[in-house]
Amino acid sequence: MEHTGPLIVVLDFGAQYSKLIARRVRETKVYSLIVPYNIPMDKLRAMNPAGIIFSGGPSSVHQEGSPKPDPEVFRLGVPILGICYGVQLFAHMLGGKVERAPEREYGIAYLEHRDTTGLFADVDSFTQVWMSHGDRVVTLPEGFEVIGKTQNSPFAAIAHKERKLYGVQFHPEVVHTPKGKRILSNFVHTLCGCDASWDMGSFVEASVQAIRQKVKNKKVLCALSGGVDSSVAAVLIHKAVGDNLNCVFVNNGLLRKGEPAMVQRVFRDNFHINLDYVDAEDRFLSALRGVTDPEKKRKIIGKVFIDVFEEEARRLGHMDFLAQGTLYPDVIESTSATGGPSATIKSHHNVGGLPEEMNLELLEPLNELFKDEVRTLGRELGLPEEIVGRHPFPGPGLGVRCVGKITRKRLDTLREADAIFIEEIKKADLYGDIWQALVCLLPVRSVGVQGDERTYEEVCSLRAVTSEDAMTADWFRFPPEVLLRVANRVCNEVKHINRVLYDITSKPPSTIEWE
Ligand code: XMP
Repeated sequence: MEHTGPLIVVLDFGAQYSKLIARRVRETKVYSLIVPYNIPMDKLRAMNPAGIIFSGGPSSVHQEGSPKPDPEVFRLGVPILGICYGVQLFAHMLGGKVERAPEREYGIAYLEHRDTTGLFADVDSFTQVWMSHGDRVVTLPEGFEVIGKTQNSPFAAIAHKERKLYGVQFHPEVVHTPKGKRILSNFVHTLCGCDASWDMGSFVEASVQAIRQKVKNKKVLCALSGGVDSSVAAVLIHKAVGDNLNCVFVNNGLLRKGEPAMVQRVFRDNFHINLDYVDAEDRFLSALRGVTDPEKKRKIIGKVFIDVFEEEARRLGHMDFLAQGTLYPDVIESTSATGGPSATIKSHHNVGGLPEEMNLELLEPLNELFKDEVRTLGRELGLPEEIVGRHPFPGPGLGVRCVGKITRKRLDTLREADAIFIEEIKKADLYGDIWQALVCLLPVRSVGVQGDERTYEEVCSLRAVTSEDAMTADWFRFPPEVLLRVANRVCNEVKHINRVLYDITSKPPSTIEWE
C-alpha cells in the first residue's frame, strides 16, 4: 500500500499478539504495517520505515531454526523496539545472554522505572504490565542499560539510547498493560519522530491511488456478499476505478429476509456500482435436496457458488483482477512465522474464494486492516450502518442454520424467525453489544397448543454470543423480557414454529454456527 506519511514496520515473529501491535500504532495516528521477520533487507529499506518493532513470538532464541531477522536490520540506523521475544533477539544477536527462566513468567507484573522523557514518559513510575515469557535476558549486550525492572525481571526494559534500540520484556500492545498505548506512542512519536497525521481518510486517499496505479484501465471482478468486508472493498475499489469494477451478487436462496433487495438498493441505487444480480436459488436448493450432513452441505454450497460465479464471470467478458475483502487476520493466519495447519472443524466457504483456473490477479485492498478498522473505513466511505455495523454471516448462510433437510419452506420459516430475533435485539438496543445473533431451525418437531388446537411443528433455537475474534465466544445474557418477546412473536407470527429455545453454550465446546 502506498502511503505518504511516516511508516512503522512490525517484523512478525509469530506471536499471537503481533496482530495487535500494528493496529495499536495506527491508533496513535501513524501508519503501520506487518511484514514477515525474514523480509529481505533491500525490501525493508525500500519501505523507508521511521521505526521498526520486533513482535514477540513463541520461540526460544536457542531453538534450532527459531526465527531471526537479518542482522543487517541493526545497521539500518532506524530506531527499533523489541517486544518480548524481540528483546531476547537483541541480547542474543548483539552479544548478551539469554537463558531459560526457572519458571515461566505469565500474567500481571509491575514495572518500575525512572524515565521521564523517553519510552516511559508520562507513564507512572510504578505501572502494571503484562508478561508472558519463558526465556529471559541475563547479560545485557554492550552499550545497553536497564531502563525498567519488575520483581522477577531485572531486565524488564532495556535500551541502547545512542543506537535507539529499545526492548521491553512485557507486552505493551495488550489491554492488560494499561499504559501500553502510551509507551508505543512514545516510541513512535518521540523516539522515531513520527507526526500524528494518519487516519482513515488518508488510508482512503492512499488506497485509491494505489488501486488506480495497479488496475490502470483494466477490469475488476468482485464477488459481493453484502457482508462488511466485501462491501467495503467494493466501495473502495469503485471509488478508485468506477465502472471498471463489476460486482457479482449471487442469491443462493440461503440469505436473510430482504437481503437481495437491500444489497441491490445500496450498491446499485446509492453507489451506482455495476451490480450483476444472479438468482441461483433453484440451483442451490436442488443441489442441496435431501442433504443433511453439515460438511456435505458446506461443500455443495461452495462448489455451486464457484460454478455460478465462474459462469457469470465468463458472461461478463474478460476480467483482469479479482477483488477480495481479505482482512489482516485472514492473512496472518496463513503466513505467520509459526502458523501451522490446524484441524478442520468446518470447511469454511468464503464467498469469493479464488477459482484458480480463472487466472485473475488478486486485489485485496483491506489486507492490512482489522475488522473494526474496516468498519471505520466503511463509515468513512459513506456505507450505511446497516452494512458496516452488521454481524458476521457465514458464506453458506442459512444452509448451516437449517439443521436437517434444507427446503424452501423451512428456509422461509427460518428467515421469518431470524428477522424477528434481529428486530427485537435492535429494538432493545443490544445489537452492538452482541458479536453475532442467529436462529437455527432444528430437525425436531414438538407438540404444542395454539388457540385450543394441538400443533405438531418445528423447533428453533436462538443463539447470541459475545466474542473478540470468533475463536472463542460466550453466550449473551439477555434481559429475560427480550427473550420472552422474541419467543412470543416467533410462535405467533411464524407459521410452523411452536417452540423456541435459547442456546447457552459457549465456544468451545460449541461452535457459533450449529453446523
Ligand atoms: P464457528 O461456527 O466456526 O464460526 O464458531 C465462527 C465464525 O465464522 C463464521 N462462519 C463462516 N464465515 N464462511 C464464512 O465466511 C463460512 O463458511 C463460515 N462458517 C462459519 C460464523 O458465522 C462465525 O462468525
